[in-house]
Amino acid sequence: MCHATVRCPDPAPAADPVPPRPRSHTRSDRAGVRPLGRPLWDRPNPKPDRTRDRARTTGLPHPHCRPAAAEPYPRQKESLLRALVYYVAATLDGFIAGPGGEFDFLPVPEDITADTLEVLPETVPTHVRAALGLPDRPNQRFDTALMGRGTYEPALREGVTSPYAHLRQIVFSRTLAGEDPAVQIIGDRPPAEVVRELKQQDGADIWLVGGGKLAAALLDEIDELIVKRSPRVACAGIPLFDGEFTPTAFVPVATKEFASGITRTTYVRER
Ligand SMILES: NC(=O)c1ccc[n+]([C@@H]2O[C@H](COP(=O)([O-])OP(=O)(O)OC[C@H]3O[C@@H](n4cnc5c(N)ncnc54)[C@H](OP(=O)(O)O)[C@@H]3O)[C@@H](O)[C@H]2O)c1
Repeated sequence: MCHATVRCPDPAPAADPVPPRPRSHTRSDRAGVRPLGRPLWDRPNPKPDRTRDRARTTGLPHPHCRPAAAEPYPRQKESLLRALVYYVAATLDGFIAGPGGEFDFLPVPEDITADTLEVLPETVPTHVRAALGLPDRPNQRFDTALMGRGTYEPALREGVTSPYAHLRQIVFSRTLAGEDPAVQIIGDRPPAEVVRELKQQDGADIWLVGGGKLAAALLDEIDELIVKRSPRVACAGIPLFDGEFTPTAFVPVATKEFASGITRTTYVRER
């Protein structure tokens, strides 16, 4: 609940609404210049509260009014269509990989691994689950994974042709030949058109794995963005969205902070 501001009636009208100015040594002080009218901190804020306005238009609670976020934020139920969710790890400055595709500087600490296995186990690659001896857990939210060639290729280079064997896998590429029957390569259709078609089909939500170029091509179709933000900057690399300048609004709906310093924030698309 918002804290409403309750004003107590003054026992007597204030003689001078301008409180005495603290002594300072600014040039304007020395010149005897004083601000006119009410002090800045006592004036109404002329700027609109965009977050509050968004909360009104989306029906979502204002962030200041929300209780501590429940995680994971439940699937948005307004739409019966499958949601396209870009679930990704990034630096504070919004990079998902280094300039050469490096990702070892984005650590996956134990608390994140444990949480991922609990909340979205299907986002852990099949071969990684096996290598770590992790229990084979059922998919919680997604049944389909979308990857750009740049995201699929690092696995390919390691000889892994089906990184998410427990999901339907679609890779967008105009240059790759199919390496594995479990992975569908699409090179002759715009990704957004394919996603619109997928949304019409029955099924669970669709995970946009990445990367930046594919995310930019699919920006109009992204319903939810979940960013695991590491407390570090990279200064350069592959951005969350690698496309043309396209300002697009999302509304934060939940954040979870981990002891390792990573925060996971869920944003929904402002429609
Ligand atoms: N931090 C994370 O959570 C995370 C998640 C995912 C990826 N990543 C990293 O991100 C990097 C890859 O990102 P990226 O931006 O370089 O590549 P990307 O988005 O994964 O793939 C781009 C490729 O997708 C294909 N494509 C097909 N249609 C397209 C379209 N309409 N628009 C754009 N691309 C289309 C093209 O392949 P063709 O040239 O073959 O046509 C294009 O080169 C990797 O280093 C990966 O490790 C990080």
